[in-house]
Amino acid sequence: MQQWSRRRFLTAAAAATLGVAGGGCGITSRPRPVGPAAREVAAAEARRRRPGAPVREVTLTAAPATIDLAGRAVTAWAYNHTVPGPVLRVRVGEVLRARLDNRLPEPTTIHWHGIVVRNDMDGVPGITQPPIPPGGRFVYEFTVPYAGTYFFHPHVGLQLDRGLYAALVVDDPGRAGRLRPGGRGRAGRLDPGGGPHPEQLQDRLMAQGGMMHGGMGMGMMGQGGGSSALGGTGGQIDYPQYLLNGRPPADPPTIRAKPGQRLRLRVINAAAETAFRLALGGHRLTVTHTDGLPVTPVTADALLLGMGERADALVRLRDGAFPLVALAEGKSGQALGVIRTGQGAPPPADAHPGELGGRLAAMAELGPDPQGTLPTAQPDRSHQLLLSGGMMSPKWTINGRSFPDAEPLPVRAGQRVRLVFGNQSMMFHPMHLHGHSFQVQQGARPGPRKDTVIVRPMQQLAVDVAADNPGQWMVHCHNLYHQEAGMMTTLSYLH
Ligand code: C2O
Ligand code: CU
Repeated sequence: MQQWSRRRFLTAAAAATLGVAGGGCGITSRPRPVGPAAREVAAAEARRRRPGAPVREVTLTAAPATIDLAGRAVTAWAYNHTVPGPVLRVRVGEVLRARLDNRLPEPTTIHWHGIVVRNDMDGVPGITQPPIPPGGRFVYEFTVPYAGTYFFHPHVGLQLDRGLYAALVVDDPGRAGRLRPGGRGRAGRLDPGGGPHPEQLQDRLMAQGGMMHGGMGMGMMGQGGGSSALGGTGGQIDYPQYLLNGRPPADPPTIRAKPGQRLRLRVINAAAETAFRLALGGHRLTVTHTDGLPVTPVTADALLLGMGERADALVRLRDGAFPLVALAEGKSGQALGVIRTGQGAPPPADAHPGELGGRLAAMAELGPDPQGTLPTAQPDRSHQLLLSGGMMSPKWTINGRSFPDAEPLPVRAGQRVRLVFGNQSMMFHPMHLHGHSFQVQQGARPGPRKDTVIVRPMQQLAVDVAADNPGQWMVHCHNLYHQEAGMMTTLSYLH
């Protein structure tokens, strides 16, 4: 725990959280208020909260668990004894009150990935809250302002890669007239291109994670094949198995539906170190959303998702049994599911549908949804983030610094901020910003709104953020091993 008191800066928000947590966990935090006052964080929450908003209560227990992988017992860490943890489903505008009981042997937190959350509920130990000690408890409570596909995981060490992750789906029952982040507030149809009403869809969820630890022998990669879509190597860790909804290819999950039915796949890359290429044999997929937010729909054969990225895709199902394959991009191995609408032999564990080699939709290259596009404006300030590391160094850095020895990136509420990621390393980095969605810049044109974006080796990529959610917000690589090795800093609101 010593490490937390060595932080170079802490926030007033974190101090306020100590009172809320009430759990007393023996952390001595010495906040140096460089960030917004707790009052500003509370005011931002109040703007999101509707009077009389329903409160959704859930209890989550993080604890060691034994998981069955095709007949093999593996020790994992899990929420409510399952990997992935339970799907949380709320409606847009509701208040989620999630109690977390920590039965792990280590401190933990929950981070609500992609949610525009109040800063003191963001789950970053030492920055937005003290870590929850073993045996401790914390109640997260916040308004959920936007619909879409999200997930949650700890923000401590490598805990996610042990199996602590689960989906958070935010439904929008009344489709029209909802808020969108940075949208121009026009009411009307929000599904461009005539998307169907969500209630008419079979709605299934799929999360895929790399193998959790547990004595199953993760190894360092050999030379590896590499990936042209990722511009280089797929990663440094070879996992013995890849999972789809927590199941290995030898015992794949089956999604049952009817021929002719339209299915919405909510795809979450919950892996720690693996990008996936996803395809459904015999079908094309129409991407309607990425990172929870709508895009101009695009039909493709396969989707590429970096760690932390999500996609919603629609598919009109044929008659039969079809492999849903998530190929470990640039590595060897894959995760597998089966979509069954009729007769037919189940696909083999190594099924390799031709769609995997067809037209690939990369999330950053999708077209923006016109109503969710940030108003045209010049940035008020710009921050360059040079990403380096690998090769000879165990450290991964942003602007030459490794977290916690990081230089915060200052912003003021109301500013338009441009983040320019410059990848000077030989690996891709899925860069994630907490508490906001940014607009990817495709040259001079706006791209999709997202919260996680792949930056390929030697690529320079700019994203624009409307700074409207005061707090201390992590910006980091969602390769968990890069994050742990320091590739993280904060976007820090000033008074
Ligand atoms: Cu899912 Cu800070 O990340
Ligand atoms: Cu990285």
